[in-house]
Amino acid sequence: MTDTQETFGTPTIIPGPWTRDARQKAVDQETLDAFIEYFGRAMEYRRWSPWHDLPVDEMREHGHKLSADTIQLIEGFLGVEEYVGDYVLNGLEVFRNNRTRRNLQLQWGAEEMKHGVAWEQVLLHSGARTEDQLKEYFAKVAEHRWSHLNHKGMDTPLGVNIYAMVQERATYFNYEQVRLRIREEYGLPERITTEEKLRGKEVGAAEAFRVVSVDEIAHHAIFLKVVQIYLRYFPEETLETMEEVFSGFNMPALRLIPNRRQFIRAVSKTKLHTAENHREFVHNPVLRAVGLEDDAAFNRAVQEAKLLPQGLGPEHVSLGKNGQFVISVSA
Ligand SMILES: [Fe+2]
Ligand SMILES: [Fe+2]
Repeated sequence: MTDTQETFGTPTIIPGPWTRDARQKAVDQETLDAFIEYFGRAMEYRRWSPWHDLPVDEMREHGHKLSADTIQLIEGFLGVEEYVGDYVLNGLEVFRNNRTRRNLQLQWGAEEMKHGVAWEQVLLHSGARTEDQLKEYFAKVAEHRWSHLNHKGMDTPLGVNIYAMVQERATYFNYEQVRLRIREEYGLPERITTEEKLRGKEVGAAEAFRVVSVDEIAHHAIFLKVVQIYLRYFPEETLETMEEVFSGFNMPALRLIPNRRQFIRAVSKTKLHTAENHREFVHNPVLRAVGLEDDAAFNRAVQEAKLLPQGLGPEHVSLGKNGQFVISVSA
């Protein structure tokens, strides 16, 4: 620990014997520490209101420059975000008996709620959709229900975490891509201008995408942290569930959104999210973040974890970036 780290963020390694209960207790304690740190940072650095803080006048001024594809993308992402109620509801069921994860779910949901409103503001103030069109869109969203059971491996608290870790990173990547498209269509350079830097805001809809992207990467980081904690105490189960979730990964609610056809067409036309960029900008960074250099290392770790002797805890076992476990019993 360095002097600058705050004490509530310090991992506490509870000594064994490593029964299942002891491992779960350690996971719960470290998850609580991580959530407290996350919440503090959210309150300090990420407080914003989609009704009060977005530059809607600039959206009005530049709205006509947005292409039809960009508008379909934004409307599709609006649909995905509008299933927030189902995402939160499903999580609350899974985390019914886990106070920390329940609270994280509630806080996460409160942040996600703002994203649908932000895309609504962008579409409305850019002149892309009227209030009536948006009302009709929301009514169609409400006709369907999203369930976590549509996604492989999402039936346990650990599976939900792993799915969220990947999904939030993918969402961050998508929103960053849209932010760059908007800048280009507005006639702005890719890098923010000195003027934007000085006022601390990007222009119009680009600012909405900037501020939401910051939330998404913070979400990725907290779910990643929880997965890292699980990996230390339940390596076999964590790696196995990662394999399951990765193998069937799909973004949520894509089949439910009202403009799904146009959205999917716009995604493929703009190459917003392809199998290649998913690998390069989502999957590989996720693997590296959990400490593995590539897929071969990941596959090795999945297999080797099955052979780990029972009863060893994190003070005895560490995972190398090539996927090999190093065991030291002298610790
Ligand atoms: Fe979101
Ligand atoms: Fe998110």
